[in-house]
Amino acid sequence: MRILFTGGSGKAGRHAVAHLLKKGHRVLNVDLSPLALDGVDNRIADITDAGQMFDVMSGYAGFDELEPGTGVPRFDAVVHFAAVPRILLKSDNECFRVNTIGTYNVIDAALKFGVRKIVFASSETTYGVCFADGMRKPEYLPLDETHPTVPEDSYAMSKVVNEATAQCFQRRSGADIYGLRINNVMEPEDYAKLFPSFMKDPSLRRRNFFAYIDARDLGHLVERCLQVNGLGFEVFNAANDTHSVDRTTAQLVDEYYPDVPMKRQMGTYETFYSNTKARKLLGFDPQYDWRTILDEKL
Ligand SMILES: NC(=O)c1ccc[n+]([C@@H]2O[C@H](COP(=O)([O-])OP(=O)(O)OC[C@H]3O[C@@H](n4cnc5c(N)ncnc54)[C@H](O)[C@@H]3O)[C@@H](O)[C@H]2O)c1
Repeated sequence: MRILFTGGSGKAGRHAVAHLLKKGHRVLNVDLSPLALDGVDNRIADITDAGQMFDVMSGYAGFDELEPGTGVPRFDAVVHFAAVPRILLKSDNECFRVNTIGTYNVIDAALKFGVRKIVFASSETTYGVCFADGMRKPEYLPLDETHPTVPEDSYAMSKVVNEATAQCFQRRSGADIYGLRINNVMEPEDYAKLFPSFMKDPSLRRRNFFAYIDARDLGHLVERCLQVNGLGFEVFNAANDTHSVDRTTAQLVDEYYPDVPMKRQMGTYETFYSNTKARKLLGFDPQYDWRTILDEKL
């Protein structure tokens, strides 16, 4: 596939781009800074500028595309990751502006240039727990995609707005638009760096529902989204199969969620952040479990 990927230079994007290249796709990375990776084309452009988005969506990816003399090829898919990725980086209103206007521009330009598959980064924060003022608990566990989205901060608000924007665009276009409610992304080096502290103090992970998503598994999930067609608008939780802390699910329930209704029995280390929908509808099959990775390193 010929893919336009926004935000491919970032923490999550660079692993997803690498995975897509490995799978044989062509990727044009659209970002404010380039990604230094063999095989990727870069274009510096700002998602908040509609003109620039219309330009990159209708342009050549690289010099080689001039050779056939048959004009500009069309993108087969767009993956949209570019964003201000949390609160407390920029002003709240700037975070909301960049994320919402940027997403509108990317989807609008993609559809107007005939793209029929769009995958975009939403967030676990839409469920309202991550950036809550004080301690908010989920309404039930395991937390699936039917749980209400109840944000109270500008970043999570922007992601809920983006899901609504995407759903509206899907309604009119009939294209496939899938949103990934991504949990906390871990790069390979994060396991040795961060997980020892999570073992000591599991409460560090409370705001993430104790879950995580390996950046390489996220790349695989993006690829599954590109392969599976015909779902219309859908959102998917993105997380690995187990918790990011050295406790069983039952221990975590006793300590943190004694009053939260449990919808079903859960596995010994099963994540509260359910990836069942992605497994069932997309064939998501995450491979990078932190216990195995740390065991191999020891
Ligand atoms: N990292 C996480 O744990 C996490 C969790 C949930 C959701 N997400 C979402 O996943 C996506 C990627 O997150 P990340 O952690 O890789 O963030 P990141 O900040 O590392 O990467 C984001 C990229 O977007 C680019 N960007 C920002 N504003 C832009 C603009 N106006 N125009 C063009 N490019 C712009 C940045 O240059 C950067 O390379 C984001 O949408 C984020 O909200 C991330």
